[in-house]
Amino acid sequence: MIDHDVIIVGGGLAGCRAALEIARTAPYLNVALVAKTHPIRSHSVAAQGGIAATLKNVDDQDTWEAHAFDTVKGSDYLADQDAVEILTQEAPDVVIDLEHLGVLFSRLPDGRIAQRAFGGHSHNRTCYAADKTGHAILHELYCNLLRFGVKIYEEWYVQRLILEDNQAKGVVVYHIQDGTLEVLRAKAVMFATGGYGRVFNTTSNDFASTGDGLAMVALAGLPLEDMEFVQFHPTGLYPAGVLISEAVRGEGAYLVNSDGDRFMATYAPSRMELAPRDITSRAIATEIRQQRGINLDGSAGGPFIYLDLRHMGKEKIMSRVPFCWEESHRLAGVDAVYEPIPVRPTIHYSMGGIPVTVNGEVRRNANTLVKSFFAAGETACVSVHGANRLGSNSLLECVVFGRRTGLAIAQYVPTQTLPEIDEQHYLTAATQEIQTLLDQKGDIRIGQLRQQVQDCITEYCGVFRSDALITEGLRQFKLLKNVYKTIRLDDQGTVWNTEILEALELRSLMIVGEMIMTSALHRKESRGAHCREDYPTRDDAQFLQHTLALYTPEAIHLDYMPVTITRFQPQERKY
Ligand code: FUM
Repeated sequence: MIDHDVIIVGGGLAGCRAALEIARTAPYLNVALVAKTHPIRSHSVAAQGGIAATLKNVDDQDTWEAHAFDTVKGSDYLADQDAVEILTQEAPDVVIDLEHLGVLFSRLPDGRIAQRAFGGHSHNRTCYAADKTGHAILHELYCNLLRFGVKIYEEWYVQRLILEDNQAKGVVVYHIQDGTLEVLRAKAVMFATGGYGRVFNTTSNDFASTGDGLAMVALAGLPLEDMEFVQFHPTGLYPAGVLISEAVRGEGAYLVNSDGDRFMATYAPSRMELAPRDITSRAIATEIRQQRGINLDGSAGGPFIYLDLRHMGKEKIMSRVPFCWEESHRLAGVDAVYEPIPVRPTIHYSMGGIPVTVNGEVRRNANTLVKSFFAAGETACVSVHGANRLGSNSLLECVVFGRRTGLAIAQYVPTQTLPEIDEQHYLTAATQEIQTLLDQKGDIRIGQLRQQVQDCITEYCGVFRSDALITEGLRQFKLLKNVYKTIRLDDQGTVWNTEILEALELRSLMIVGEMIMTSALHRKESRGAHCREDYPTRDDAQFLQHTLALYTPEAIHLDYMPVTITRFQPQERKY
């Protein structure tokens, strides 16, 4: 057994920012960060468009209250407003702190940090590093962790959360390089394991975004909050699904249908291409459904619409969104200076997750916390995004709540002692789990089942949902759960056995997928990203509350938790 004061699982922005805060506040603590990829390959590195903060460098009329209102309205009033106030008030400070750490933000001519427009934001407040903002931030944070001597376990897969008597005590880890298993024990455990885009068949997320942290928490008997709220990003490159940043529209690009119309005039006339993502994604999906999508030969009735940058000119395209130009060129053969980019909605972000307080403490329910367990970032639900996140608020969430969680851990741990753990019990269970997979005699390959799972949830719980669709999806999912017991692994070795890893990740995808569909089935209203065609309006009387879904292998049980409202009473949401 290996002991640390603190174990952080996940090497993305939230995990790295928390580790940095602990190292700065309590440098004598022994902090370990465990990640299944190298930290700078975490999905945060792919964040493009920017990080919101009311620096007022471009618009001196901006205020944190305006940022808070935009966020709450964007969330369709499901966000917890106390958390949103913290997010928006602390934003300028965390961005300046990143600047001091060495993050190379893009500049205004006078040298101050540049800020651009983003969907759903009423002022130009998104700070950026061209269209590689996540890359710029994550690299600096990682360098700082090396400077502070944080122990990093890279390419170790966390297989299980050790939770006993309502206390997190450590994790069981699988070393991908050689197949060894270890128990890591700590006085505090933090999950910053990111999202689950790979549950769906088209996503902007990287291959590692398989919801492992969420699944482990669910298996440990803790609830997940608001899992029905899954964000489609409006502009995934067709057909790959990778992200073409909202920054492109922030810099002036148009969305155009097969008639050549800027159709957003019909759906959000005051915001056009810069409406929030739920509205823009539904608008695109509606255009495609109504045969105003485009085919590769340019004819009508196809599966995508155009993102047109041509009027922006080469200089602006190459200086502000060079990576999006490169992606389109490399992956779709489109030169965006001269041709429109084919795009359609792609799964991008999970609004729900592990329920936490504003200090990152994990909740068992509305009134009870889990001892020694913390979470932040996309895997957590604090809930600043409610039913729909505004672009450029997620990097912000990672650094604001990563910092706060790190500070809370640094204050908590010095009074704690290492917990008792029956190490052999956990090693035996983890070994057996892997051996069972290796011994399975079926004939279905992991990739086949994964595809069926992804196709099922995409078809039955996508942009438009209904009772009939989700019920059918859940019926098919039940059958797929049995198929998991018949997957065959060819690789029986211990060195870089990525089949074992993929089988464990598939288990995560299936648990998370079932949680999403079950939560979606029971929310009989339309709010934010959750669009029920059989319940087309928002129903505050019944559903202005957070869903808590509790997993058991037999069934998922649902409970609800109140929404915190401080200064913005729910109103009709129009743009
Ligand atoms: O479009 C983007 O650049 C994504 C930003 C975000 O999800 O916050």
